[in-house]
Amino acid sequence: MRYGKFYGVGVGPGDPGLVTLKAVKCLQNADVIFSAVSRQGARSVSGNVVDSIPDIEAECHELVFSMSKDWNERLACVKENARLIADELERGKNCAFTTIGDPMTYSTCGYLVKFLELMLDDLRAEFIPGVNSWSALAAASGRVLVEDCERFTVQPNYIDPDPETFKKALADGDTLVFLKTYRSRNKILDLLAEEVPDAKVTYGANIGLPEQFISKDPDKIRDRKDEYLSMLIVNTGKGCLPEKPGSEQGPANAGASPTEVSGCQVDFNDKR
Ligand SMILES: C[S@@+](CC[C@H](N)C(=O)[O-])C[C@H]1O[C@@H](n2cnc3c(N)ncnc32)[C@H](O)[C@@H]1O
Repeated sequence: MRYGKFYGVGVGPGDPGLVTLKAVKCLQNADVIFSAVSRQGARSVSGNVVDSIPDIEAECHELVFSMSKDWNERLACVKENARLIADELERGKNCAFTTIGDPMTYSTCGYLVKFLELMLDDLRAEFIPGVNSWSALAAASGRVLVEDCERFTVQPNYIDPDPETFKKALADGDTLVFLKTYRSRNKILDLLAEEVPDAKVTYGANIGLPEQFISKDPDKIRDRKDEYLSMLIVNTGKGCLPEKPGSEQGPANAGASPTEVSGCQVDFNDKR
């Protein structure tokens, strides 16, 4: 019997409105859908998105993935889960694995596929991109990520940023997204205040979910508890055009007009 096909499906940050039509169609046609969850009893964010899609006939399963600091333990867990998916593929079932955001970006999906390739000859796999969490935060907060020649970097896992590494990261990008910063967030804010005091910071937690929280105020951000689904966007560049005077996003000199940026003169008081 021919093996079923594996689909790695990005379902976006958690808002069912941010799932692509292609992902919906794929999930409606799948025989089995697997969604990741970080611990037994917790609800899977991607599983919740699947529940919101109409006409799903697939068998749905949640797979627990270890978040242990022990890398071997994590990989052993991925391998066990890959075995469960491989069993269904061997039965000829088309299997979808859903993941938050995009399946090709910091996702368990990548590890799973490597094990599936080892377990099955001629694995057939297809991937459906999803809206990244930082794109969702940028849109929800109205914060432009980058313009023109600005550089954009994504920094994962800043558990304990040492000042030198942090300075290097700042030197490499005009806009930086810090993922998985729930334990290091306030240290990042401290270092940032020292290095680039006029940087603009946007914090987003649980983007796209009912408990979504967004703030551009460092003091309010500092007061938040640790939240796994959270990130910081730091804009150190000046952008191509000045901000509207008095806007929350405005630079320190907001209100000065006309303002020269990148050689262009813009007068925000001129409404023509
Ligand atoms: C393993 S990475 C997953 C990235 C995901 N594949 C993507 O494309 O966005 C997990 C980290 O992504 C960020 N993240 C993912 N979804 C999020 C959401 N809905 N709200 C805030 N942060 C989120 C957090 O920084 C979290 O620690």
